[in-house]
Amino acid sequence: MNIQVFEDKNELYSTVAEYYINYINQKPNAILGLATGTTPIPLYKNLIQAYKNGRVSFKDITTFNLDEYIGLPQTHKESYYSFMRHQLFNHIDINLNNTHIPSGILEPNEAIKVYQSQLSKHQIDVQLLGIGSNGHIGFNEPGTSFESTTQITQLAESTIKDNSRMFDSIEEVPTKSITMGIKDIMMANQIIVIATGLNKADAVLKMIEGPVNESLPASILQKHSNVLVFLDKEAASKLTK
Ligand code: GLP
Repeated sequence: MNIQVFEDKNELYSTVAEYYINYINQKPNAILGLATGTTPIPLYKNLIQAYKNGRVSFKDITTFNLDEYIGLPQTHKESYYSFMRHQLFNHIDINLNNTHIPSGILEPNEAIKVYQSQLSKHQIDVQLLGIGSNGHIGFNEPGTSFESTTQITQLAESTIKDNSRMFDSIEEVPTKSITMGIKDIMMANQIIVIATGLNKADAVLKMIEGPVNESLPASILQKHSNVLVFLDKEAASKLTK
């Protein structure tokens, strides 16, 4: 793992954005794995600005999102479908036909089949990841098999609590998700992890220094040969090395 720690969050996000801009300019038809949550929002803002300044184009880019809530209508402001449109897709020149998000409204087994089949026809170049405070990646909660492919998961109590800040009440947070599996994530050529804030420090410590164990899903990233980790100093504060 290549780990970079930043004093300044703006610098962290502009560094990651520059990485993407260079990558896309070198490979305009790249296949990007995208993430939701609050963590990638500043990255997407930087990329939108770079597009508006004519520094990058997404017209030949293909994207795959990690996950989606089960049961939220696409029009719900917290659906990841809606999130991606508002935070990124509506502001850039991407062809929406080339964007893929697992469906939270299809019959779940059908949704799994459709997504896995789309994924199997593509090789993700760069997969972006945030990390849950309990070490989840995508919505692969602690205990998920490292061999998992696209699947329906039950959200951990801690995840429901973490994500309730986006909803009017905790009762409104869906309890299930559809997510790329851990094996799917590990298939990407390269993985970029961003973590900021003190509430990620324990998960970051275990991801980087802990044993590789299904109780901490992100620990599997130690086994990937090409992972770039971008941390602010709070998220890095418990690292010992
Ligand atoms: C969410 C998403 C993850 C995300 C993580 C962290 O529930 N399913 O893909 O990385 O939890 O979220 P945040 O960036 O808001 O802290």
